[in-house]
Amino acid sequence: MEPIRTIAVIGLGYVGLPTAALLAGSGYDVLGIDIDERVVSALKEGRCENAEPEVKALVEQGLASGRLKVSQTPAVSDAFIVCVPTPVRADNSADLSLVDAATRSIAPFVRPGNLVILESTSPIGTIDNVVVPILRQAGLEPGEDVDICYCPERVFPGNSINEMVENSRVVGGSTERATERAAALYGKFCRGQVLGTSAASAEFVKLMENTFRDVNIALANVFARVAEKAGIDVMDTIRVANGHPRVNVLHPGAGVGGHCIAVDPWFLIRDFPDVTELLSVAREVNDSQPTHLLERAEAAGLAKGSRVAILGVAYRGNINDSRGSPSERLADVLGMRGYKWTAHDPYVSRWEMHGGNMPIYSDLSAALNGTDAAFVMTDHDAYRSLGPDDFSGMNSRLIVDGRRLLAEQPLADAGFTVVRVGAPTLQQ
Ligand SMILES: NC(=O)c1ccc[n+]([C@@H]2O[C@H](COP(=O)([O-])OP(=O)(O)OC[C@H]3O[C@@H](n4cnc5c(N)ncnc54)[C@H](O)[C@@H]3O)[C@@H](O)[C@H]2O)c1
Repeated sequence: MEPIRTIAVIGLGYVGLPTAALLAGSGYDVLGIDIDERVVSALKEGRCENAEPEVKALVEQGLASGRLKVSQTPAVSDAFIVCVPTPVRADNSADLSLVDAATRSIAPFVRPGNLVILESTSPIGTIDNVVVPILRQAGLEPGEDVDICYCPERVFPGNSINEMVENSRVVGGSTERATERAAALYGKFCRGQVLGTSAASAEFVKLMENTFRDVNIALANVFARVAEKAGIDVMDTIRVANGHPRVNVLHPGAGVGGHCIAVDPWFLIRDFPDVTELLSVAREVNDSQPTHLLERAEAAGLAKGSRVAILGVAYRGNINDSRGSPSERLADVLGMRGYKWTAHDPYVSRWEMHGGNMPIYSDLSAALNGTDAAFVMTDHDAYRSLGPDDFSGMNSRLIVDGRRLLAEQPLADAGFTVVRVGAPTLQQ
């Protein structure tokens, strides 16, 4: 086998762009490909404003060195890495149309001796049922002409470069040679352990990891609901329970969102419905958390039809990704129940939801002004220090702390009613 010198990375989003930049920084000639003209033309002009600072720096370095180039169309390369989205449809079935399209787009450029890697989080069997047939149709026999590997990405957005370098890496080849070649490729920039397995097993590993997180967050949210009814603060209980050497209860919250944890369990639930009841229930618990918080606010006096401020639309703290966030769900439920709402986020300047742009404030006091309740939905650090003065422009004094971020007692002392996830409502 010829050594790998050139790599095409297909899909330049949260995963593909830092991957392409790291590979370019490791000495490969990398062609980053994206069908979105805006992404490609911005990068051609050296711009990637929305990327994390470390990603931006590495991309700029790669572009300046000439090791990283970008294009809307693929080209002949020694290796191909597909990093396109794998969403679920409205009925929660996996939408693999982008993996299909991306694989078809590279197929004419794949040559005997090449390595093809899929990084997109995918249902078990995607390599065998989607990638292999397309390459076969192009006249390439997997294992003979071309090596194929499934290598899921484990990155935690907000810390992408560090995680891509330090995390261990799962490499699932359709043959041993495919695993070895992909392991050598990632070994160029990954300092973590490279764990070799089969393609199907690697597909399952990724789904297992995110499902583990989803189910455990649901468990924490169930404990939170018990605590609310029992008049106990779950945060104290969890701290003490986690003193047990084999217990690690996660943090309850306002729900689960994003492109991964709220999506990937569906790939197991849809394909194995008769044995995944627990996973469905966990999805239901996490999805219903925003409604649960709204109902607690209503029980604490929030009148139907009033005006609510949503603080944080990103699905996690200190990032700008708002896809599928619990705030989307809250905004939907508020709309359905006749409330009016405003939204604020220090990181998200454009809130895309249901194919449109939702109004969003970057000025907190403008978002809060004249509202009857404020829901803290995202654990942005910027919200941690909010005190009574910050909420002074509100009409009524009701705050929902969906992340247990705020100093609650000073707010209650100042006359606010504080609905707390996992604890009884606090009042003066
Ligand atoms: N974002 C994360 O934190 C994260 C972490 C681990 C795994 N993943 C997985 O990685 C995959 C990619 O996620 P992402 O967050 O990077 O997505 P993203 O939406 O940020 O970026 C995907 C990019 O792919 C491009 N694209 C779509 N179809 C294409 C095609 N046919 N050819 C070329 N480009 C195409 C889009 O224009 C977009 O720019 C998903 O399967 C996701 O589940 C994401």
